[in-house]
Amino acid sequence: MTELKGLILSGGKGTRLRPITHTSAKQLVPVANRPVLFYGIQAMADAGIEEIGIIIAPETGDEIRAAAGDGERFGVRITYILQDEPAGLAHAVLTAEPFLRDSPFVMYLGDNLLQGGIGDLVHAFNEQRPDALILLTPVPDPENYGVAELRDGAVVRLVEKPPAPRTDLALVGVYMFTAAIHGAARAIKPSARGELEITDAIQRLVDDGLRVDPHVVRGWWKDTGRLEDMLAANRLVLDTIDTRIEGDLVDSQVDGRVIVERGARLERSTVRGPAIIGAGARLIDAYVGPYTAIGEECVVSNAEVEHSILLTGSEVRDLGDGRMESSLLGRNVRIGRDGRQPRAYRFLVGDNSEIGIL
Ligand code: G1P
Repeated sequence: MTELKGLILSGGKGTRLRPITHTSAKQLVPVANRPVLFYGIQAMADAGIEEIGIIIAPETGDEIRAAAGDGERFGVRITYILQDEPAGLAHAVLTAEPFLRDSPFVMYLGDNLLQGGIGDLVHAFNEQRPDALILLTPVPDPENYGVAELRDGAVVRLVEKPPAPRTDLALVGVYMFTAAIHGAARAIKPSARGELEITDAIQRLVDDGLRVDPHVVRGWWKDTGRLEDMLAANRLVLDTIDTRIEGDLVDSQVDGRVIVERGARLERSTVRGPAIIGAGARLIDAYVGPYTAIGEECVVSNAEVEHSILLTGSEVRDLGDGRMESSLLGRNVRIGRDGRQPRAYRFLVGDNSEIGIL
């Protein structure tokens, strides 16, 4: 068999994560201070894949390229493939055909996170040699995903976002294909949302009598498309960290599993893990509660922050009695209270922002 390649889809507009995605690709939003995309690249590297193609869009391609580079730090070779229009996942596969050629490949949606990596899948695919292998997991809201129907353990029907799903088995955004998928992707027509759906291409494989094996995911899986999902992914990854303190603690304490990166400084502060404090961040008279990721060079001063994600360079100051919770701050955001009267709320907020006064 020719060498297994990797294909990571890192285009898309990220509309559900605006305003963060007005200025940054959704695949680069950090989970536990690491871009979501890097978890997919790492999973492929850990499974022994050396050649990875990353599909990029014109708007965010440069940023993705700058972040992931040539792949050397992951021990892989990355080729960037421009998809000039967001015409669907099957269209992305066709766009990547000159890179993939006749190799079997793992396709990974760049905003997905899968516990435990993909080593088991690659093993099952190599042992059982199906024409495709799909990952499924039961979800409470299958109408938001591709949905599979199985009979006697075999995949019989796949429908993209059906209004009345017949099962609760969602297609996880990680797939394994042989080169048979190219012909199937060429044979389908765009869906109602105007995209060439990978779900329809896989259905085409089934209709052509090819073997599509299902694999039900046992660990957690997250599609990080929305704020709640980002916070959940952050919780799940922070739950796996081990304590590592490389920054300075001055009259401060950390409880539970906490990472304090080099150059970070805590003064008269408490961090209750699991939490991560990025390089160069400063906590002054602050409390950082569980499931919080404070990005590099952030400042939290005289304030309490919990169950939140702060991107690089953001500052939270003087919140008084209110604790900031379940929040996602973009880069260089400033939130604070000053003592001036009369007391009022004052905002300078970008398009599609959301602020909850609770
Ligand atoms: C895509 C696929 C869908 C799959 C989902 C997983 O949906 O079309 O079948 O279940 O990813 O994340 P999208 O995120 O494009 O809405």
